[in-house]
Amino acid sequence: MAAGSHSQFVLLLIVLFFGSCLMYQNSVEASHKLYHLLLQSEQPSIVSNQYRTAYHFQPPKNWINGPMYYSGVYHLFYQYNPKGAVWGNIVWAHSVSRDLLNWTPLPPAIYPSKPFDINGCWSGSATILPGNKPAILYTGIDPENRQVQNIAFPKNLSDPFLREWVKPDYNPVMAPVGGINASSFRDPTTGWRGRDGVWRLLVGSKIDRTGMAILYRSKDFVHWAKAARPLHSREGTGMWECPDFFPVALSGRKGLDTSAGSVKKVKHVLKVSLDETRYEYYTVGSYVDEAVDAYVPDGTSPDDRTGLRLDYGNFYASKTFYDPAGKRRILWGWSNESDSVADDVAKGWAGIQAIPRVLWLDTTGRQLVQWPIKEIESLRREEFHVRDVKLKTGKLHELKGADVQVEFDLPSLKKAEPFDPTWLADPQKLCNQRNASFPGGVGPFGLYVLASANLEEYTALFFRVYKAPNKYMVLMCSDQSRSSLRPEVYKPAFGGFVDVDISKRKKLSLRALIDHSVVESFGGGGRVCITARVYPTLLVAQKAHLYAFNKGLATVGIEKLQAWNMAKAKIN
Ligand SMILES: *[C@@H]1O[C@H](CO)[C@@H](O)[C@H](O)[C@H]1NC(C)=O
Ligand SMILES: *[C@@H]1O[C@H](CO)[C@@H](O)[C@H](O)[C@H]1NC(C)=O
Ligand SMILES: *[C@@H]1O[C@H](CO)[C@@H](O)[C@H](O)[C@H]1NC(C)=O
Ligand SMILES: *[C@@H]1O[C@H](CO)[C@@H](O)[C@H](O)[C@H]1NC(C)=O
Repeated sequence: MAAGSHSQFVLLLIVLFFGSCLMYQNSVEASHKLYHLLLQSEQPSIVSNQYRTAYHFQPPKNWINGPMYYSGVYHLFYQYNPKGAVWGNIVWAHSVSRDLLNWTPLPPAIYPSKPFDINGCWSGSATILPGNKPAILYTGIDPENRQVQNIAFPKNLSDPFLREWVKPDYNPVMAPVGGINASSFRDPTTGWRGRDGVWRLLVGSKIDRTGMAILYRSKDFVHWAKAARPLHSREGTGMWECPDFFPVALSGRKGLDTSAGSVKKVKHVLKVSLDETRYEYYTVGSYVDEAVDAYVPDGTSPDDRTGLRLDYGNFYASKTFYDPAGKRRILWGWSNESDSVADDVAKGWAGIQAIPRVLWLDTTGRQLVQWPIKEIESLRREEFHVRDVKLKTGKLHELKGADVQVEFDLPSLKKAEPFDPTWLADPQKLCNQRNASFPGGVGPFGLYVLASANLEEYTALFFRVYKAPNKYMVLMCSDQSRSSLRPEVYKPAFGGFVDVDISKRKKLSLRALIDHSVVESFGGGGRVCITARVYPTLLVAQKAHLYAFNKGLATVGIEKLQAWNMAKAKIN
């Protein structure tokens, strides 16, 4: 029986916290200062609400980084520093929702109170145990500042919001012994059950610079034994934070319960957040043999920092969970600010959640495809349509909307420039060198979003097509270099290669979700996703403009565009 398959009281829990001490330090310091600022002073000019998002989750203030879900009710836990808290006193704040869009705040669910978490309650995950009982495993920081793994259960299973959680005194259930580095031992995953009925889960770790997912096994989910070797490890990658391990169906978009991989023919995905690069990488592979518990990435999936990324922009500490109500696996990630710490303090908050995304295995079997949850479409209001517009070199075409779906057609690829295979290693570098203003053959073409009337500021989402010996290569970029006149803002051009075959069907799709200070882009039907944080200055006085542009020599067309203005969600 798969976990989470009960009908009445189905609980899907995901907790995404991540445990970087430095980040916590920043956040707590920031919110500490913020507290004084809010209490006493006039807010500096940047504190206007112009960057607060309308339909992306963010708490009223402070630093966030995590979610979870339950019984027709989705739960989001996030890191929160209650006012006046000293460093390390991080709690799991808690909000609930029935649609993943509108959120109601509840009191904190887990907070430091016992020796095994007295110095902090860091990231973790939830699992549904038989009898439909949720359990949370999280990283606690003990009195010696060691990272340990603790378990917590809901106090009252009849409370649909699971407001209170109990941490048994037998914690911790996993301690950093037997050669585990006590400062690099965190973020337990959701558990899965093998055919042998034994539970397994992973904890992120490293030895020197070899990142690893330590495997634990348990018969009762309380007593855990470390396996002789990690499920997977890779030298030169550094600490693996927030590991996530789940099965995906070989075809179709339906999600699978985390334990379903032991009974069905599937592929598995292992995702890790690399502390050294602050990006998230995953491999698609085979969970070969439960008897030895080894995961082997496919040859098409490098398990280093040249590997596949869930998102090529500001996106970290994500987790997935299986939603039986929608029979889908949902990915949720955290997007940090690209603003200066001083300005985060002035704004009074830092960090948002990206829009939850459904994910499934591409028909190629080589990668995941992601798409915003359909619930977001209920926020669509005024609709705009465009059909059959030709974009010649240098042409701009004004558009409207905050959820924009466009299908470009490429009548001719003859002008595609030659591809240099060394570019594969670092698409972001290429997007920075050949940014939205750098002319090309086929492309750059795409959208200018959050643009001021005279284009002093804009964020450019665009494609370029190159010709490799046997195929066309498609680069997608999200170029923030002109996104804000403020010099202190981090303004990279993010990018990734889109694994689509455009030689037959000469079309490329792009969807953009635009919300004040965040632009989430989905290229090639969700094969490359890029989340960017942007801080335009001129849009307080002006309306935000949206344009399609083409700076390539080849004419491209907008075959079809649908866009909508978006309503505000009720968030906390
Ligand atoms: C448990 O929750 C239910 C539903 O909210 C409530 O009626 C009941 O009083 C609670 N029980 C305890 C012991 O708090
Ligand atoms: C343990 O991890 C910490 C944090 O990354 C690191 O500073 C330290 O050098 C590691 N210790 C050993 C013995 O590898
Ligand atoms: C957050 O923002 C900064 C830019 O200010 C960036 O360099 C950093 O790597 C980001 N990501 C994470 C996950 O911390
Ligand atoms: C692109 O690069 C040029 C040269 O480095 C720079 O002047 C420009 O601001 C960048 N961004 C855009 C969108 O043109």
